[in-house]
Formats: sequence, C-alpha cells, structure tokens
Amino acid sequence: MATYDWNQRQIKKFENNIVLHTEDLRVFYNGDKEAIHGVTMQFPVNRITALIGPSGSGKSTYLRALNRMNDTIDGAKVTGKIMYEDVDINQRKVNVYEVRKQIGMVFQRPNPFAKSIYENIAFIHRREGIKDKKKLDEIVETALKQAALWDQVKDNLNKSALALSGGQAQRLCIARAISVTPDVLLMDEPASALDPISTMQIEETMTELKKNYTIIIVTHNMQQASRVSDYTAFFYSGDLIEYDDTLKIFTNPSLKSTEDYVSGHFG
Ligand SMILES: Nc1ncnc2c1ncn2[C@@H]1O[C@H](COP(=O)(O)OP(=O)(O)O)[C@@H](O)[C@H]1O
Ligand SMILES: [Mg+2]
Repeated sequence: MATYDWNQRQIKKFENNIVLHTEDLRVFYNGDKEAIHGVTMQFPVNRITALIGPSGSGKSTYLRALNRMNDTIDGAKVTGKIMYEDVDINQRKVNVYEVRKQIGMVFQRPNPFAKSIYENIAFIHRREGIKDKKKLDEIVETALKQAALWDQVKDNLNKSALALSGGQAQRLCIARAISVTPDVLLMDEPASALDPISTMQIEETMTELKKNYTIIIVTHNMQQASRVSDYTAFFYSGDLIEYDDTLKIFTNPSLKSTEDYVSGHFG
C-alpha cells in the first residue's frame, strides 16, 4: 500500500442549511482507546450524505454518536460538540429519548419487533399517549407508504413482522423510524444484508425520503454511495480525510488516499 499524508484534510464547509454538525467529536472505547479522533463536519438539510471507508475506520462509531447511541455501549465516551440546530445534544442534561425522536436510526440487520406489522409502528405512538384507533391507523398507513411497503402489506397488517422477507423487514424498520417524523435519519449499511433487488428498492425509497428528511448513510458499497448520495465523506482509521460532493469524490478527489480507496486499490 502506498504511504499517504493522512494529516492533509479536504473537508467541505457548507454555507447554510445545516441541520446537524459535529465539532472535534471524539469517541473513546473502554475508557481511553480513541476510535474517532476529532471529527468536525456538517450535514446539509434534505441531502443524503454517505460515510465511506474501510472496515474499522470508525463509520459506525461516528454515526452512533450522532443520536447518542454510543450511550448504550459500556465504557464508551463521546467528547466534543454535536450541534442539532442550536443545541449541543452531547450535553449530559439532554434527554436522549427526545434526541432519538428527532434523529432516528436504521440498523444493518433489520430488527422488527416480534409483533404484528401494524404494532411495530403503532406501539411507539400508543406509548406516546395516542389512543385513537383512527389516528393510529393513519400513522401506520402514512409511514408504510413513505417506506414503499404499504401495497405489499396492507391486507396483512396483523401478520407477524417476523414473517416478512429481509427487504420488507428493513422497509418496516424504515417505516417505524420515520413514523415519529424525525428530522434526520441515520442508516448503518441498511442494505448490506439484502439481495440486489431489495437493495435497489431501498435506494429508491431513500431518494424519495430525502424530500422530507436529512439522511446520513454508512455504506461500504461504493456504487451505492455514488448512486444515492449528494455528499460523501471518506473515513480512515478514525479520521475524516476528505468530504465533498459525491461526484467530486468519485471522479476527481483531492487526495491520493481517497482516489486509491474509491478506485478499489486498498481497503
Ligand atoms: N463496542 C465497541 N467496543 C470497543 N471497540 C469498538 C466497539 N465498536 C467498534 N470498536 C472499535 O472502533 C473502531 C471503529 O469501528 P467501527 O466504528 O465499527 O468501524 P466501521 O463501522 O468503519 O467498520 C474499530 O477499531 C473497532 O474495533
Ligand atoms: Mg460499521
């Protein structure tokens, strides 16, 4: 492998319409092992940003920090600022449950609850105090339509979600995440466990969703990043190396390391 000057950085700065940004974000595991080394970057509203980089480069760790999911990992510590609009949501006093209603997450493995398709979505809203059946029906239908699953399941809403195919289950998880109308949707390799057709459908759904949501997706699939995202961030070894328009990253990156990675020469 070629040697690179990893201290060079090419980080795009956006002038306006930023919904989320981090400043000097660091993540430590087991007290002192620093996995993310001070990442400062911005996420523009109603755009899809892809995080790419080799396995172990810190993409998932960084993504999980954005809605405080690292709080659930024993021994993990996050420092620096995570600005959601004007609030630093990395402050201890911030209500994590409220954060996750604004910044939702879809995981690599579809993880529907062992409940009916309907209840997978309705349950959160019932817990929030919505009792009216008509209102719940409407929430379920809207979310399933946005996730492009409604037509396939509308006659089987009471069937177990566990009987869905992998692609359908992932779309149910997307529906569940968007049913609480978040601003931002974090997706960690949402299609990596799916077949090519389901993957394509998820990508189409994302393109639809970006009209209403800001999406940040981790993917190791370079074609996927170039197909769906507006901006691409290249991570390596816990650092953000280059961040720019997707087209630029894939056709004319500023750094040799980025070019070698996107052309498959390492990682
Ligand atoms: N729960 C964890 N506990 C300890 N170390 C972790 C944990 N999750 C990830 N790491 C470490 O943090 C680094 C970044 O991992 P990760 O964020 O999963 O990378 P990526 O998603 O890019 O593959 C790796 O060295 C990994 O071993
Ligand atoms: Mg990962």
